[in-house]
Amino acid sequence: MNMFRKKPLTDTSKTESVSQLKKSLGPFDVVALGVGAIVGTGIFVLTGVIAAKDAGPGILVSFILAGIACFFAALCYSELAAAVPVAGSAYAYSYSSFGELIAWILGWDLILEYGLACAAVASGWSGYFQGLINGFGLHLPVSLTSAYNPSKGTYFDLPAVLIMLLITFLLTRGAKESARLNAVMVVIKVAVVLLFIVVGAFYVKPANWSPFAPFGFSGIELGGATVFFAYIGFDAVSTSAEEVRNPQRNMPIGILGSLLICTILYIAVSLVLTGMVPYHLLDVKNPVSFALQFVHLNWVAGFVSLAALIGITTVLLVMSYGQTRLIYSMSRDGLLPTRLSAVSKRQVPQLACWTTGIVVSVFAGVVPLDKLAQLVNIGTLFAFAMVSIGVIVLRKTQPQLARPFKVPLMPWLPIVSTLCCGYLLFELPRTTWVSFSIWLVLGLVFYFAYGYRHSALGRSQAVEDGSLRQISG
Ligand code: ALA
Repeated sequence: MNMFRKKPLTDTSKTESVSQLKKSLGPFDVVALGVGAIVGTGIFVLTGVIAAKDAGPGILVSFILAGIACFFAALCYSELAAAVPVAGSAYAYSYSSFGELIAWILGWDLILEYGLACAAVASGWSGYFQGLINGFGLHLPVSLTSAYNPSKGTYFDLPAVLIMLLITFLLTRGAKESARLNAVMVVIKVAVVLLFIVVGAFYVKPANWSPFAPFGFSGIELGGATVFFAYIGFDAVSTSAEEVRNPQRNMPIGILGSLLICTILYIAVSLVLTGMVPYHLLDVKNPVSFALQFVHLNWVAGFVSLAALIGITTVLLVMSYGQTRLIYSMSRDGLLPTRLSAVSKRQVPQLACWTTGIVVSVFAGVVPLDKLAQLVNIGTLFAFAMVSIGVIVLRKTQPQLARPFKVPLMPWLPIVSTLCCGYLLFELPRTTWVSFSIWLVLGLVFYFAYGYRHSALGRSQAVEDGSLRQISG
């Protein structure tokens, strides 16, 4: 039963005090990290497709459904991130609550989530970028404009690869530097979303909101499971815990604050968007700027496209950051090769940064990722459900743990959170479930071939057992 060995919480908390990462982030940085990770491709790209194909103007309800599920999960994340502020987030919590095997599965699942999310978002970035340079009469050779698809003459998405490598370089400069740049970009992004809401509101025609649910409630539910992608990112905030000052207070502020801001923005954007343009016209790559062009506000549309590009860049920055901190944490535990946890003079896990950066950029360059938002969602919903159950388990097994932030209505709220995630999970298509299962099986093979034998916890327990035997012998 060794594979269910649990990392004592005292060890996990000790990690915080011996951490080699620098504590440089304050509450504003953390909220900005959250908004930076959340507002991106989901609102700027997916909203239009989902309104046109699944939910109609009822996408408003889809956003509310997904927002509720995220709010419950965010409360659970906040309790754990404040009580156990270490890099690695959900992975680290489940190491203490469920044991090594489940922690590994969750970590492996999050690698998929962050990796594919980055790759998908980099492709979205490339689309906006090319739209913008085309406006200036500049065009890339067709073969370098999109992922591998010989029938269309495209082989490699060059801008997606370049932006991923640039982001990786920025990450290796240090968390504070990345956070500072992120904060500037987040302010621009939020200002432009507000500009859209305020200006667009004058062009809303209530007749466009009817029929409200042209594809029925099932369309709204499917829309909810897909727009969930737009909320992903607040969980990435919890991976930064080891670099946050006073995490007991600042983690809940960052997680809940960023989610609240984004939920309000999303509800307003979806109302204005579907009020400005008949929903069936919204199946375009850039629905937000398209809506402005639709009402002949071309200069605002150009401005919004530029800001969307900036906004998507911050998602990449924070998601990649979360990915590297997760890998840092898993390799520090010996479940991945330990060299990945070595930190540079700048106190950054360089090798983890470059390894993930290069792998993700290859994916972004070669694999057509437009359909993969659902695969990212399944991984994330799975993690949210595990974190919610983890809160209940830890309250039972570690009642003495200091919890600066507590989930209210125990155990009902985490149970409802798990059920909400389960509900959205079952809305996702079967093909997504099949791909996800294949990824998990690969993870299990890697664990038994490598992680199980190299686990730092396993080794320290073996040493303890050995000395006990010597003493008793
Ligand atoms: N929430 C992030 C986005 O929408 C992943 O781009």
